[in-house]
Amino acid sequence: MDEQAAAKLQQEAQEVLARNDRELWTVPAADLYPHQWLWDSCFISIGLRHIDIERAKVELRSLLRGQWSNGMLPNIIFSGGERRHIDLWRSWVSPYAPDNVATSGITQPPMLAEAVYQIGQKLKTAERRSWYKEMLPALIRYHEWLYADRDPHKQGLVLLLHPYECGLDNTPPWISELRKHSLPWWIGLIEKLRLDGLINLFRRDTKHVPPGQRMSNIEALAYWSALRRLRRKAYNSEALLPRALFAVEDLNFNAILIRANSLLRQIAKTAGHSLPEGLDEAMRRSETALEQLWDETSGQYYSRSFVSHKLIEEPSIATLLPLYAGTISHERVARLVDLLKRERVFSAGWPVPSVPLNSSYFDPYKYWQGPSWANTNWLIIAGLKNYGYEAEAAVLKDRTLKMVAKSGMYEYFNPQNAKGAGAPDFSWTAALTIDLLKS
Ligand code: GLC
Repeated sequence: MDEQAAAKLQQEAQEVLARNDRELWTVPAADLYPHQWLWDSCFISIGLRHIDIERAKVELRSLLRGQWSNGMLPNIIFSGGERRHIDLWRSWVSPYAPDNVATSGITQPPMLAEAVYQIGQKLKTAERRSWYKEMLPALIRYHEWLYADRDPHKQGLVLLLHPYECGLDNTPPWISELRKHSLPWWIGLIEKLRLDGLINLFRRDTKHVPPGQRMSNIEALAYWSALRRLRRKAYNSEALLPRALFAVEDLNFNAILIRANSLLRQIAKTAGHSLPEGLDEAMRRSETALEQLWDETSGQYYSRSFVSHKLIEEPSIATLLPLYAGTISHERVARLVDLLKRERVFSAGWPVPSVPLNSSYFDPYKYWQGPSWANTNWLIIAGLKNYGYEAEAAVLKDRTLKMVAKSGMYEYFNPQNAKGAGAPDFSWTAALTIDLLKS
């Protein structure tokens, strides 16, 4: 991309971030997502650090407002005004939820260590140390919670209780899990009587985005009902697990956690602190446990059901994310890079489709079932660099920037023609565009 085009793109991205700035945090998109989201703010701060490093720090400090006393970082911290969502989640049913702010009751991929680390990389040594010291206690408490609460048998992989936790809401592995369980009878009835169209009356997202670009109404209802189950048990995983609708050792989440663990180690070292022994052991277990998700026949990793212990053999963008974890063997890396480049699999005109083109789920406009997203591209670029695939990383970066330049700062993009879809003016697309331009 030439200098002029890059400057124009950066300007556009900065304007989106400025419009979505709510002083202490940035909303992902003004109409569709008017609150603070966990992994969004992490990606946003990674971009903001190039423009205004103090503002980038504020973005992450604001996330800590929502931290529960047991260490959990919720995926949403609500802004006032939107009672409907606050009342849906009712975080106050848990004794661990903070008193002065309403949050969701579940988490999202643990990108915080990466965001803290990336901000640190822009600071001078003394400032970096004090920044890391400031953020370290919350980070440790979060990672400790992940293992204590979500790895009950100390096996090294953390489990998720709701698809929203994996960040890729309607990704095929979770939808296929959903279809394996019997849906509540009333959802079955609505489906049978074909009354699901009525659900649009109650949905916020389909008022802003064409329904064909979102999850189906039946899926949305099932997710909503799963959320109510969590709420009824006060988001207590011990009480939930025996009868959980979902319990998945999610590939995307665990790959990100492994990278986060290694950054947490570096952050602690720079801050001059050692990690609690139990946490350190749990972190080491994760690296070997990830390999249990490998399937030799298909040559790829999958998520696994915590209940049946079976791999969920549905490929998705998560297939490529062990590259980002940075702990897998070079042989397996080569097989993943081959999938990335293979036509009819992950090689599309505009990278990288959120499900492979040869999957029966593939639909170029449907949310996490086909479109290309800037954040997963960013994670794959970092993953390719982990293993010295510099040329592949450079191509992916260039195509990502051109895709965004062609259509604008959309939430996601059709991988066949780069057309933007979902919300316009989407913050993490803008922030990661800036980061890719600057790195
Ligand atoms: C959607 C995405 C999720 C994101 C949220 C806010 O729910 O699936 O990953 O955090 O929007 O942008």
